[in-house]
Amino acid sequence: MSAPSLQIGLAGFGNVGAGVYKNIQKNSHLLLERSGRDLVVRRIAVRDPAKAREVKLPPELVTTNLDDLVLDPEIDMIIELIGGIDRAFAFVKAALENGKAVVTGNKALLAERGQELFAIAEEHGRPIYYEAAVAGGIPIIKTVQESLIGNHIQSVVGIINGTCNYILTRMTEANLRYEEALEEAQKLGYAEADPTLDVNGWDAAHKAIILASLSYGCWVPCDKIYVEGVESVRAEDIAFADKLGYTIKLLGVIKLHEESKAIEVRVQPSLVAKDHILSSVKGVFNAILVQGDVVGETLFYGSGAGQDPTSSSVIADIADAAANIDARDGSGFITHGLYGKPLPIEESVSKYYLRVEAEDRPGVLARIATVLGDHGIGILSLIQPEDHNEEYAPIVLMLHFAPFGRVREALKVIRAMDCIRDEPALLRVEDLG
Ligand code: HSE
Repeated sequence: MSAPSLQIGLAGFGNVGAGVYKNIQKNSHLLLERSGRDLVVRRIAVRDPAKAREVKLPPELVTTNLDDLVLDPEIDMIIELIGGIDRAFAFVKAALENGKAVVTGNKALLAERGQELFAIAEEHGRPIYYEAAVAGGIPIIKTVQESLIGNHIQSVVGIINGTCNYILTRMTEANLRYEEALEEAQKLGYAEADPTLDVNGWDAAHKAIILASLSYGCWVPCDKIYVEGVESVRAEDIAFADKLGYTIKLLGVIKLHEESKAIEVRVQPSLVAKDHILSSVKGVFNAILVQGDVVGETLFYGSGAGQDPTSSSVIADIADAAANIDARDGSGFITHGLYGKPLPIEESVSKYYLRVEAEDRPGVLARIATVLGDHGIGILSLIQPEDHNEEYAPIVLMLHFAPFGRVREALKVIRAMDCIRDEPALLRVEDLG
């Protein structure tokens, strides 16, 4: 007797969609053995069937109408890889309402409208799978959902944008300018078609929101987290950080504050000690450190972007859905009220790297130190290179642990001083133990 099939409607045939199709064909036998179902791509929805593609689009499966997937009673499962928010929301909602399981890699959709979608999923008893939405090929969603279910998650700290990590790595190791490194990342297919969300930190932020929400069983709103991207990271800061024994990485940081039960969520370029394992994560690779109260520290590493790694996660979800297609319980997101609200960013505490361009004359350093002292901020160390011959020179200060709000206040005062030019560079120094 032949195995039962799982009929799939694939929406989107871009980099990841094409990879999913290609790799389902490539490993069809293995997937059949493992999932017990024959995975059949029944329809593929694309915007432009005539577009030139590396992976050939099978013409007999193509439609330009998403309704052809949602309204086809033979289709068991929808794979949403069209990106964007509003159209994808309407599509996923309709798929759930029509009794389909959903697999999506759309982090923006889940971070912005996940709460509504999971409520719809719950109502219709159909699950949403979203492994590919966070960290490409690393199975971090399943890990938090299942493998670490017995833990209070104390922190999740990760490099969760491959494009930014690629850019920072190339700026550090090949002395490329930011624009050159970005162009390389785009050519290699790591950056989104519009790389704005990669470089302004929001791609990582959407992933951090999903991880934080999943770890703490409550939806973290987008406007309650703090986000900075890599656009303003300068080559000179990379060089100064290097001298001080650090690498600059774009980190997503999620932390539980034990007493208040508040959840800190932020994405910022940060200094990581060179001897910490996250410093050695290079190129498009991602790595996520998860600290649980039972398991201790765990580390997950792998390709965070790219066609094959991301399609590996989508296919894992498809196989999972195939194995559970008849079970009509659980949306894929469990909410509970055990933890508190997001921590206001002003209250988050760390050490800092501060570079100011200051007039090179007596008394300037003392004035800066006084402002910091007045705000209760201690100086750990400072460097000013001797070999400058301009009227202004960089002063780099490493600052002691202090609340971010207080540091920003001090910085406003320093920026307004007549002896300071240009925007100061302020970066977190992440204390990773
Ligand atoms: N463009 C993303 C990255 C991959 O560079 O990590 C998809 O989120």
